[in-house]
Amino acid sequence: MVQQTVMAAEGLDKRFWQGGERIYALSGVSFGVERGSFVAVMGASGSGKTTLLNLLAGLLRPDGGRILLDGMDFSSLGGSERARVRRRRIGFVFQDYNLLPNLTLEENVRLPRLLDKPPEGAERWAAEILEFLGLAGRLKHLPRQLSGGERQRAAIARALSMKPDIVLADEPTGNLDLRGSSQVCGLLRRLCRERGCTVLAVTHAPHVAIHADRILMLGDGRLLSDRPVTDFADAEQLATAYQRLLAPAAGEAGEEGRP
Ligand SMILES: Nc1ncnc2c1ncn2[C@@H]1O[C@H](COP(=O)(O)OP(=O)(O)OP(=O)(O)O)[C@@H](O)[C@H]1O
Ligand SMILES: [Mg+2]
Repeated sequence: MVQQTVMAAEGLDKRFWQGGERIYALSGVSFGVERGSFVAVMGASGSGKTTLLNLLAGLLRPDGGRILLDGMDFSSLGGSERARVRRRRIGFVFQDYNLLPNLTLEENVRLPRLLDKPPEGAERWAAEILEFLGLAGRLKHLPRQLSGGERQRAAIARALSMKPDIVLADEPTGNLDLRGSSQVCGLLRRLCRERGCTVLAVTHAPHVAIHADRILMLGDGRLLSDRPVTDFADAEQLATAYQRLLAPAAGEAGEEGRP
């Protein structure tokens, strides 16, 4: 089967100004994502993971470089056109969930389908996702009446509401126990295998990243590593590689002292 690149980042730069200081959130980040693949994005806090996801979703514009969606320069589109493409194609799981506080879980998940014409079968699909994620008994609850894990699963269900072909998920298992996180990993994997969906998920957890096809590691806004999961024997070996990358001495001291 010929692999197709659905999404590509080319030399992405993003800077922020904070208190008169320039912060280089991302510098020269380039990679491609194959259609139907599951990519995990790892990196220390502040390394630029959320910024990267926001750029890929068109929620932010890069200061340099570009994002291609099926070869089309997504980042150069105007705001409303980018929003239109995003609503139709991209499901986004926010790190802080972004659930609307005055809407019930069910209404939050339905919202994307009210804002745009939903694709065929979206209603039933959303009901199945809610059932699968164990939320069917919580539909009438407001976000504040849900547990952290339930809110997180609600945010995932909302992101999938429009049957997107690309899912960008910012730490989608950060607030889940082991059972919940393996359930979500299973769901993301199935979306790729059965629906040809492309998934990029930020995670700190090697036991989550090991379910991906590729693993990107960011450090200080740069892409430090982009490797297939088959490079790692198991989650433990991945954890060791990740720790080594995160250790500040590793970056500064180069290869010296490495086993
Ligand atoms: N809107 C903003 N204004 C100013 N600085 C920002 C803004 N957004 C992000 N940053 C800075 O950019 C850097 C990258 O932030 P980002 O949120 O992408 O990190 P992250 O890898 O997602 O971290 P975490 O694991 O804690 O979620 C950080 O230094 C952060 O303080
Ligand atoms: Mg983040």
